Amino acid sequence: MATPLMNSSDKIILRALRGEKTSRPPFWYMRQAGRYMPEYRELRARSDGFLDFCFTPKLAVEATLQPVRRFRTDAAILFSDILVVPWALGQGVAFEDGTGPVLDRVAGSPDLSRLSVAGVVERLSPVLETITRLHDDLPDDVALIGFAGSPWTVATYMVEGGGSKDFAAVKAWAYRDSDGFGALIDLLVEATIAYLNAQITAGAEAVQLFDSWAGVLPVDAFQRWIIAPTKRIVAGVKAVHPAVPIIGFPRGAGMLYQSYISETGIDAVSLDTMIPPAWAAANLQPKVAVQGNLDPIRVVAGGAEMIAATDRIVDAFAGGAHVFNLGHGFIPATPPEHVAALSDHLRGLGNAG
Ligand code: CP3
Repeated sequence: MATPLMNSSDKIILRALRGEKTSRPPFWYMRQAGRYMPEYRELRARSDGFLDFCFTPKLAVEATLQPVRRFRTDAAILFSDILVVPWALGQGVAFEDGTGPVLDRVAGSPDLSRLSVAGVVERLSPVLETITRLHDDLPDDVALIGFAGSPWTVATYMVEGGGSKDFAAVKAWAYRDSDGFGALIDLLVEATIAYLNAQITAGAEAVQLFDSWAGVLPVDAFQRWIIAPTKRIVAGVKAVHPAVPIIGFPRGAGMLYQSYISETGIDAVSLDTMIPPAWAAANLQPKVAVQGNLDPIRVVAGGAEMIAATDRIVDAFAGGAHVFNLGHGFIPATPPEHVAALSDHLRGLGNAG
């Protein structure tokens, strides 16, 4: 139970992220705030654009708190987006209803001169203000997780001009002109270190690096564009905030999860839907805390099957440090009542002995 005197580092999720086996797996959900919740849609309707919404601390604080209130998750994730970083670097970014994000394309090296790391933290000060306010508003047993996209995943949106099916433009640039593309990655590494350090200074107690498109690269490119930049970011954050857990989410990395963990220095790893829990328990969990990995569509389906699938994951990871989460984010069709049933079940595991 929470007490007003609870020391921040005693929060169950922070203990698990640091590698401690806890009496129940603490839980939060990727995309726990969003369109599947009616109260989110009502709040969202109050601002014109999604970026404006992210940059209005009053609204972003409320969006962050909605799922914590409704489901009593063990963590809140800052309400923002990974694409605020390209915006802060100087790229045009817009979110259009129905189509997703649309960015002015960075097509090659000449376009890099339009981007600048210098003002990034200053331009993202509304997000930092959201974190500062959340620090006062959160229940004192709930941890606040900050985040950023990984350089590779953010670069895919910057170069493709939005989402992509084949990643042809960004991969062709990386393969054809690795030094030129490397300059973009360097810019993102630098911006991400500064931004994450500022989030922690403002009050984030753990941070997650979202690498949603890690799974599209072959092994040599994975090494150069995922592992090496992630390692630099971990070092850059640890140099300033050594005690703050860093969670990596190299979605789709398959067997490369192993080298990702052993080479980057991250404290915890988020597993995507396809990773078999028994394999991860044997090969990954002895090295770092694991997070995951319920198929988000299980929660669309709901019912006894959702609970059975949850128990299989919880049981598989019962031997070590585990944070329960999804294998990817909730989709808008998710019934909030199913999320409530799942959350009640997970909280009840603490009473089982
Ligand atoms: O609750 C949370 O998880 C915190 C907030 C959060 C959002 N996006 C809010 C959001 C987080 C952590 C993200 C991360 C993010 N954003 C990722 C990495 C995780 C993943 O899903 O793979 C990526 C790739 C993005 C980029 C992005 N943002 C896309 C492709 C889209 C459009 C697709 C869509 O679902 O609409 C967004 C928009 C977005 N980000 C919404 C939300 C709630 C919906 C926009 C709206 O409400 O109008």
